[in-house]
Amino acid sequence: MTQARRVFIKTYGCQMNVYDSERMADALAPAGYAPTDRAEDADLVLLNTCHIREKAAEKVYSELGRLRVLSQARAAAGGRLMVGVAGCVAQAEGAEIARRAPLVDLVVGPQAYHRLPAMVARAQAGGRAQVETEFPAEDKFDHIARGPKARRAPAAFLTVQEGCDKFCAFCVVPYTRGAEVSRPVAKLLAEARDLVSRGVVEITLLGQNVNAYHGEGPVSEGGGAWSLARLIAALARIEGLARIRYTTSHPNDMTDDLIAAHADVPALAPFLHLPVQSGSDRVLKAMNRRHDAAGYLRLLERVRAARPDIALSGDFIVGFPGETEADFRATLDLAAEAAYAQAFSFKYSPRPGTPAAEAAQVPEPVKAARLARLQAVLAASQSAFNAACLGRDLAVLLEKPGRRAGQLIGRSPYLQSVHMDADAARIGEIVTARIVSAGPLSLAAAAP
Ligand code: 5AD
Ligand code: SF4
Repeated sequence: MTQARRVFIKTYGCQMNVYDSERMADALAPAGYAPTDRAEDADLVLLNTCHIREKAAEKVYSELGRLRVLSQARAAAGGRLMVGVAGCVAQAEGAEIARRAPLVDLVVGPQAYHRLPAMVARAQAGGRAQVETEFPAEDKFDHIARGPKARRAPAAFLTVQEGCDKFCAFCVVPYTRGAEVSRPVAKLLAEARDLVSRGVVEITLLGQNVNAYHGEGPVSEGGGAWSLARLIAALARIEGLARIRYTTSHPNDMTDDLIAAHADVPALAPFLHLPVQSGSDRVLKAMNRRHDAAGYLRLLERVRAARPDIALSGDFIVGFPGETEADFRATLDLAAEAAYAQAFSFKYSPRPGTPAAEAAQVPEPVKAARLARLQAVLAASQSAFNAACLGRDLAVLLEKPGRRAGQLIGRSPYLQSVHMDADAARIGEIVTARIVSAGPLSLAAAAP
């Protein structure tokens, strides 16, 4: 172990970035870096960036501008602040970042995090900015040991699959995260057991296209490719792991065995995030989604038949190039019919290098007006779902302190936030609590 240093990792974007940030911290621990949550205390600041929607790169450059002030102050005091950019903006921009922002010491894409300690060492030794944006053949997580056995928050993420081969016309993910790769089953079971031994009771399996998971099965069980459903069944046998979730799925990979798992595996939470993006078949085709609106709704029916109380969630994009008022109304209709428990909606944002970015764009005010109309429909359906929980007894995983003293925040099986009065010592427990009020975004329960 070398001398103690501190790393501050700032995470933008999706849950996979949250997971990756933890693993970057793990990778840097053997090099003597302990995490801190203040840039002011750090020897190394890493920005784990997101490129999925608007102004991502601009945000990174303005954050780098703020860090320049800190870096100059540090240099004036005879010290040194190292700065790195990781994540999808790093992958997309590469060496351009270091050219535009000379304070940057390293630029590292999402598939090269295991190389961080070596990059940091080289950067420290002086010289040019280190840039790694390759997609190496080796599995980065094989080269990153989990940190020392410390107790963890009760709900954790576990990346099981990364990358995407779908190439939706709006999406930058296949370019920044690369081709679909599934991690082997044995490694995932070992990592899940390790998480559970640290106090984790709920694991969310992550992948850009998680239900396309096809990881190699353990040799002891005959090898071969395992489906996500089979992986979930194996995880459900880990003692102490009470809840399993997965995200994000593509409708075309919603296989029969995965739908059946929602009926058969009690630990699998009754929740499914299944993005649809649009309710217009014309737009879905232009988006290269390879499914239509009716097929998507039929799929929801099949999932509901397997698990009648399931909470459904979706993603929508409004103002995709060529979207007419009639197309948009089809989206409103689908959103109403799907009766989502929650959903995310975004204005289309052209991503450099993706096919749709070149097309004629829908005017900004039209996008804004459509987004507001869609969000009104989605909010009504979320409120209705929440209201239907009033008076029910729900199993709530107590996750963290609330804003008020004596209050905790937990999650229902349906992923709703639930507030209740309970002792902080109970964090990590799953309690049965009576829902006494339901708001548009969260629930409140009586003390357990
Ligand atoms: N513009 C707007 N929204 C996008 N998403 C992905 N790419 C874009 C884009 N270029 C949304 C999709 C996806 C979610 C993660 O982000 O709805 O499901
Ligand atoms: Fe992007 Fe998801 Fe489409 Fe893959 S399936 S290209 S991650 S929107």
